[in-house]
Amino acid sequence: MKNTKSKVLKNFQKRVEKNIKLMSSDRELKRKSLDWMVHADKYKYTYNYRWMGIPVIKFPNDIVALQEIIWKVKPDIIIETGIAHGGSIIFSATMMELIGNQGLVIGVDIDIRKHNRIEIEKSKFNKSIKMIEGSSVSQKTIKIIKNFIKKDTKVMVFLDSNHTYSHVKKEIELYSKLVTKNSYLVVEDSFSEFFPKNHFKNRPVDVGNNPMIAIKEFLKKNKNFKIDRKLNDKLSITETFDGYLKKIK
Ligand SMILES: C[S@@+](CC[C@H](N)C(=O)[O-])C[C@H]1O[C@@H](n2cnc3c(N)ncnc32)[C@H](O)[C@@H]1O
Repeated sequence: MKNTKSKVLKNFQKRVEKNIKLMSSDRELKRKSLDWMVHADKYKYTYNYRWMGIPVIKFPNDIVALQEIIWKVKPDIIIETGIAHGGSIIFSATMMELIGNQGLVIGVDIDIRKHNRIEIEKSKFNKSIKMIEGSSVSQKTIKIIKNFIKKDTKVMVFLDSNHTYSHVKKEIELYSKLVTKNSYLVVEDSFSEFFPKNHFKNRPVDVGNNPMIAIKEFLKKNKNFKIDRKLNDKLSITETFDGYLKKIK
């Protein structure tokens, strides 16, 4: 019975992978997905979701992708830059609880608003969360974070704070060093490179000034990380094009 089930699952997985491969070379689907993302951004689509009642500013696809890598790696520490309302750190904390390894989520934000802090601290998952108020690229912040990382601690990092090229470049430099082998550095919001020029009216992010440029530069020089292509290809709708970076050595 068990063998039949695993054979069925293997065949299912084979079919899924074949479809993902076909999908990844479907230019029309890529164009339609991007058109959809640009159109949906008119309504601030990424603000529509909540995790355990708290707003999380992400596409549902990306939340599921993060769940997949957390489940696979089972990190001891997840570091997130950019807390905002807190839905994302609460999501990571729920995953830590499901994994059951007493893990810690470290959230960093330059401005933790009082009402957000109150909601996060009220959450039953708060015991797995440590919040740091400060810039993600300040030496003080990095020093506090490093104090939590011991030998053999498995570390995963999600970068989702200030999305300008220069800031993300600094973040990647600092946080890539903390990620452990076989774990991930997730550099979010790279999709803005493919949006029309001047789309983001009141933000410095634009074509040529966004996380995608920092990712490309980093990967040229750093051979310890590679894009998780399978994950990237299957999402289709994602804020994180080429941004799921696996540390391979
Ligand atoms: C896109 S939101 C984060 C969304 C959150 N990760 C989520 O998925 O729900 C960006 C956050 O980054 C914070 N931020 C901006 N510049 C920062 C910096 N230099 N260091 C740390 N956080 C920063 C902002 O205060 C804001 O709360």
